[in-house]
Amino acid sequence: MPRGAPCCKMQGDAPGAFQPPTSHPMLLTFPDILNADELREARRLLAVAPWADGRIGAGEQAVQVKNNEQLPWDCEAARSVGAMVLGGLDRMPTFFSAALPRRVHTPTFNRYGGTTNHYGDHIDKALRFAPHTGQRVRTDLSCTLFLSDPADYDGGELVIREPHADQRIKLPAGHLVLYPGTTVHRVEPVTRGHRLACFFWIESMVRSGEQRRLLYEFDMTILKLREQHGDTLATTELVGTYHNLLRMWADA
Ligand code: NI
Repeated sequence: MPRGAPCCKMQGDAPGAFQPPTSHPMLLTFPDILNADELREARRLLAVAPWADGRIGAGEQAVQVKNNEQLPWDCEAARSVGAMVLGGLDRMPTFFSAALPRRVHTPTFNRYGGTTNHYGDHIDKALRFAPHTGQRVRTDLSCTLFLSDPADYDGGELVIREPHADQRIKLPAGHLVLYPGTTVHRVEPVTRGHRLACFFWIESMVRSGEQRRLLYEFDMTILKLREQHGDTLATTELVGTYHNLLRMWADA
């Protein structure tokens, strides 16, 4: 589970493999969820996939500002690449530590370009049905995994509105941004080429963003201590405190 606080899940990483994700008060990015071979295969499948109008299934407010293409969740390409993405997340223990996922929505795919090239300011619905499980998912966290090389398109930044300065995000192919589901956000018009992305939501075991963030920072600090000093009685005690906090705050 958490990276610094060893648990049953996410084991098997080489010691020292942890690369701190770039940090922001509200946003985290994770590199290389998909490797070069997986990206090539994903693009090949998505190039011949049955893209449809992205407004199908959008909420009342979103439909007014949404102008992109989306894949049916159950087409072959969406299922194959979706499984690849979930597999990539499983190899990223820091992602698990940050999101503490309880339920993950079905990975969904969108494409921006040509005349269907933007998605204006909107907020995601609080509750969504994950079609592949039939479960309701509370959208505590949103994820966007970039699938196109940024050199292949202009525009298409994911803009997350914040009180002091908007965050403009355009990541290398295979990289993912994790951000709170509570934010107003948009995708800027793509003026050249196409922007392919995978997006999905996460219901976290820890509902409060503040508590989730404290747990993540705590876990990353334990990890640093263990890397610098090895396992000591003090780190073991800290790991214990981490798990006791998680026990207090998590709905598993
Ligand atoms: Ni959205």
